[in-house]
Formats: sequence, structure tokens, C-alpha cells
Amino acid sequence: MNTTKNTIIFALSLIVFTNCKAQNTTIMNKNITIDQKVDSLLALMTIEEKVGQMNQYNGFWDVTGPAPEGGSAEQKYEHLRKGLVGSMLSVRGVKEVRAVQKIAVEETRLGIPLIIGFDVIHGYKTLSPIPLAEAASWDLEAIKTSASVAAAEASASGINWTFAPMVDIGRDPRWGRVMEGAGEDPFLGSKIAVARVQGFQGDDLAAPNTIAACAKHFAAYGFAEAGKEYNTVDIGTSTLHNIVLPPFKAAVDTGVRTLMNSFNELNGVPVTGSSYLQRDILKGKWNFKGFVLSDWASIFEMISWGHAKDKREAAKIAATAGSDMDMEGNVYVQELAQLVKDGVVEEAIIDDAVKRILRVKFELGLFEDPFRYCDEEREKETIGNPAHHEAVLDMAKKSIVLLKNENQLLPLKKEGQKIALMGDLADDKSSPLGSWRIASDDETGVSVLEGMQAYKGNTLTYVRGAEVATEQTTFLKEVPLNTTDTSGFAEAVRVAKTVDVVVMVLGEYGFQSGEGRSRTDLQLPGVQQELLEAVYKANPNIVLVLNNGRPLAITWADENIPSIVEAWQLGTQTGNAVAQVLYGDYNPSGKLPMTFPRNVGQVPIYYNYKNTGRPIDKDDNVFWSHYSDVENTPLYPFGHGLSYTNFSYSDLEINGNTFALEDDVNVSVNVTNTGTIDGKEVVQLYIRDLVGSITRPVKELKGFELVEIKAGETKTINFTLNKETLGFYNNNGDFIIEPGDFKVFVGGSSITALETDFVLE
Ligand code: BGC
Repeated sequence: MNTTKNTIIFALSLIVFTNCKAQNTTIMNKNITIDQKVDSLLALMTIEEKVGQMNQYNGFWDVTGPAPEGGSAEQKYEHLRKGLVGSMLSVRGVKEVRAVQKIAVEETRLGIPLIIGFDVIHGYKTLSPIPLAEAASWDLEAIKTSASVAAAEASASGINWTFAPMVDIGRDPRWGRVMEGAGEDPFLGSKIAVARVQGFQGDDLAAPNTIAACAKHFAAYGFAEAGKEYNTVDIGTSTLHNIVLPPFKAAVDTGVRTLMNSFNELNGVPVTGSSYLQRDILKGKWNFKGFVLSDWASIFEMISWGHAKDKREAAKIAATAGSDMDMEGNVYVQELAQLVKDGVVEEAIIDDAVKRILRVKFELGLFEDPFRYCDEEREKETIGNPAHHEAVLDMAKKSIVLLKNENQLLPLKKEGQKIALMGDLADDKSSPLGSWRIASDDETGVSVLEGMQAYKGNTLTYVRGAEVATEQTTFLKEVPLNTTDTSGFAEAVRVAKTVDVVVMVLGEYGFQSGEGRSRTDLQLPGVQQELLEAVYKANPNIVLVLNNGRPLAITWADENIPSIVEAWQLGTQTGNAVAQVLYGDYNPSGKLPMTFPRNVGQVPIYYNYKNTGRPIDKDDNVFWSHYSDVENTPLYPFGHGLSYTNFSYSDLEINGNTFALEDDVNVSVNVTNTGTIDGKEVVQLYIRDLVGSITRPVKELKGFELVEIKAGETKTINFTLNKETLGFYNNNGDFIIEPGDFKVFVGGSSITALETDFVLE
């Protein structure tokens, strides 16, 4: 098509369609495929406009007000007008989104709509539990619903793309972003990745209440050395293929539309510039048709990594490696067009990236109606809708893990008890919201104090005792961990002596975990441990409620405190969820998605470790794989979590002893609720492949089922193992299955109750 012809079609289309100039007749023709539409639009674009689609800017000014003068914001504004911006992030609210979209659609030459991205990580305005907490529910339907509630609110606010789910496997609780993932296990992580992608994207991406998802951070960001944020990652191929990549592959297989790469390098190559990950694996082997977004300025940061000497080289490396869109890095928009003109980067590479981006915009229905996510009425009705509060409350209750419950201290009696509630976090309406809550207002979480006050039958006295830190933290500000103030202890001790039970809510402020919040100490921050011990001396009847975004090392508490409840940061409805569990109106069923260490020195500690050549002390000497000062076992294993009832396991059976590689292996087990109240249990199945060409972990989760079992009832649970669950990736990244001996373990945690075996021939 020559330019004159383009101009004619373009002019004609202007007559027919008013709101989007790119909506020429070809593009709007319902009888041609999205790919054909994309091709016809691409043919109209200049190289600058193509590169513009690959450029994403952060929200830069109050778009409903006057444009600023001078500085980079003005440049961004100009770029937007010239069609040099394909996407914006962190613009939210119908009014704001409409304003930027109007510029893109009405003022640029082709009128291509923007795709509007936002970190909708665990809810939008009505917040769900942090993702790690949700993972503790092992309830895939609830997790899917939670993502769909988030999508409904975000889409009603003009947003059509979330930077979630984070599917990074995390084995190191020092890394603050473990709060944002699904924990340490690739099998559970893959199932949750699928549930979240389905929840955000629904069945129809063009529906106004669904949004495109983004699996991040591709890849291995969770393996930062020593848990230090943005640090080097150096892992072997087996860990990469068997642990890190499976949740990404699961997300891709379920149709996730975008991936985000990450800040880390992997074995010497910043992943943003990794052709191996993005071209060979993602777009090659996995046939991914969506697009890859860089992380915030990660293309630019390849210069600091020492992988690119300047922006020009960074642009060349990242585009060639398959990073399709530059988030707020200003690298593509400045360098790529010239690189193409100079013959350094092939235009085909740009075309491929732009096609991927346009395809997602078409799928979202943005060409049909760029303002389909901009309906003020829907915005008003949807955000904060009571049904959403119900949904996040449900999710919050399901996310709570009962770590320990001696002497039946829990559930609390509803009447006639004197209860003291203690801890800074108990009266905190902000921390429960966790660290990703940009669209939510501070102080909008239900505190534990408020939740417990709803139960009127007891006397409830609140005493702060001690603060967590000298200041509440913010999204951008570092947390001071320097509190020494113990002046509130005396009152706490005095009150503790006068009550039947003390409920202590201890842990981390909402912004003490999350991005940029790595810690070397996993104990309770500040003087909270001292407070706990002081109160314990006065009254040992303590229920410890943890609010935290990562596994903590609470060894003393485990040895001394009778009841411990892991309540994470549960979002808007935190206090109600905690109170309902403490009072027994909800019987907890959560199970840990991450191992809790005894101390920070055990980290990284995870259940699916390798046996080593010296797993046990055979000869009563020191030469075996262990520490001299602490045992090898964790404080609480992966999969651990109690209920107010008890479950027993029996009759583990397999439908044979020997199977062919192609066969299904059927496993069944009976689970009995031996207590007096109904409850739910996550029945977990693990395998061990005893001998492998690549050594296999001592246990690997390969099945789980969340079952409701009435008091006294027995249920038979069936699992099927097959090629997909019995195989693994070799060091070339090929999935293989090998004959040999397998063990099967079933139980209510990774410390399993029953064991049997079979042979694959
Ligand atoms: C984070 C991403 C996030 C992006 C945009 C980055 O710092 O690593 O996960 O989506 O910012 O807010």
C-alpha cells in the first residue's frame, strides 16, 4: 500500500468511524481474523509509530488538568500526541483514563488506542489477602474468584491490563516479594497461576469486566542471591526448568496474554536481554503469541549491569532478545527507530513486537470501542460493591493457617471470658492492606480490634504494648527497624494478669514486606519478641496472631505459646476474618505454601530438597549434611496447617504395582474427620522418583484436593498420576519420563502420614 492510498483509506475511515481513526474498513471487517486486521494496520504505520507501540509511560500528570510545562512530563505528553506511546501504566479512574485515551484516539495520526496497565495484585480498591496468603488457601476456585473481583473493579476504573499474577517461586523469605507469589512449590504455583490468569481474563477478554493478565517476572527473579532485592541470580538448568519455569508455562498454556521480564540477571545475562528465555523458550518452544513487557526501566538497567554500553546497545539487545515493550525506560522510543534505519535492528523484529501488542489490543476490544472500560456509572456501582467485600472476606478466612493449638485454647469461648488484645498491629487499619494497594485508601482495612469488638459476649481490653517500628512505612519509604521503646510493657503485663486469654497480634507492618523490602533477620521486628516474653511471664494463655508478608522465624513462640494463627495481611476484611476464625465461626483449613525456618541461617529451606550423598549420620560422626547448631527440619513444613477438628489417613492404595510409562497410576486414600466438628482438609499427594538421570527431590507435590468432611465422616480421595506428573525436565529443557521405582506419600502436610510405592517399566 502506498502512502496516498493509506491516506485515502484513512480519510474514508474517518468519515465512517468517529472515535478511532485506525478503524478503517479492513480493521472493522468482522469477517477477517485479528491477525489480518493487525497486518493491515501495521502496513499503515511509520517506523516511529511502530516503535511508539513498544513504548510504555507511567502516568505523568493530572491528565484532566493542564499539561505541565518543561521536563520529561511535557515530553511524554508530546509523545502521546505524536503516537509514540502504546501503553500507559498507573493511570486510573474513568476520568483520567478517558483523558489519555482521547488523546491517543483523537489526536494521533492513526488513533490507535492505548492499553492501560496497572498493578492489580491482590484486589483493586477492595483488597483481597496478599497473594502468598491466598496461596495458603489451596482453594483454586476461591483464588480465581478473588482475581475476577479484582478484574471487575479495575476494569470499571478504566484499566484493561494487570501486572499480575507474579508467579515467581520463592524459597527465601528474606526476599520481601515472597508476599506477592504463591510460595515455594512449582506444582501448587502452576495451579494458582492458572486460577489467577483465568480469574483476570475470564472466558472473553473483550468483555468489559475482564482484563489481560501478565505473568511475571520472567524469569528467576525469586532466586536473588541471599534474598537481596534485585540481586544476581545464578541457578542451574535443572532448577530453572523444573522449579522456576513451570508456573510460567502453565500461565502461557492457559492463555495469559502478556509476560513481564525482570530486573535480575540469570547466569550472567540480564533476563531482559535474554534471547534464550524470551525467544527460544517462550516464543519458540512454548509458542507464546502475546507480548513481553520489560520491568520498570529494566532495559535501561542493562547498562548498570554492564551488559550494554549505552541506551542504543540496550535497545538493540532487548528488542532482539524479544522484549516487546519498554516500561518507563525511555530507551526504545529514543533509540529503536534509528537502529532500524541504520540497519542494526531488522524491521521484522519491530513488526513482530508491534503485531503482538496490537493483537492484544484487538482482543481486548479496544479498537471497537477504546472507551469500553470507561463507564462512570459502572465505576460507581462496581467499586467497593458489597458482594466484593463478601468475596474478599471469604478469601481471607480461607487463607488463615492454624499453626499450633494446644490445650484447645482456640476457638475462644463466645461468652464469659476476659480477653486482652495486644500489639500495635491489632489496632492497625493500614497494615492489613499489604504492600500492593495503590488504588485503595489507607486506613480502610478492618482491624483485628474492630473485628473482635463485633463479638460482644466477652470483656475485651485493648493494650498496644509496643509499636512495631518508630514510624508507619509507606510504599516508597524504607522501614526503620530501630524501635527500643518498651514503655508500654508494664501496662500490658498488668492487664495480662487480669484476663483469661491474651490475644497478641504481632508481625510486620504492611510495607515491611514487598518490593525493596529484603531483610536479614526473620524474627518479629522491633521489641515485639520482648513484649511477647514479658506478657507470657504474666499469663501464658496466649493466642499469637501473626500479621506478616513472609515466613518468620518464631522458634521461641512455637516452643512456648499454646496457639499460633498465621493471619498474614488479609486485605480489607482482615479483622472480620481473624475474629471469625478465633471465635470458631470459621474452622481454618489453610496450609503453608512456604516452609517456616527455625532461624534465618537455615534459609533457603524448602521441602523439595535433594537427598545429597550424605543424608544421614550413618557412623555417628559429623560427616553428613547438617548444621552443628540447629536440626535440619524446619519449624513448620510446607503444607502444614491445623483445623479445629482432626483428620486421620488410612488405606492408601494404588491400582497395581507395575505400570507402563504411558499408564495412569490411580491412587486412593481414606480420610476421616475424627473430631466433633465439620472441617476442611487439603489432602496432599507427593512422589519421590528414587533414581533419575537428573537427581530428583526427596518429595514433590503432584496432587492435592481440598475436601470438606463432616464430623465422623470418612471420604475416599482419588488421585491420578501420569506422564505429566511423573516426568521432569532434563538439562536441555526437554520433558522426559524415566522408568524406575517411585514412592507415593499422602497426608495433610509435606510430613506425610502414609507411604506406598510402584514401579514404572
Ligand atoms: C515491579 C513490577 C511492577 C512494576 C510497575 C516494578 O518495580 O517489579 O512488578 O509491575 O514496577 O509498577
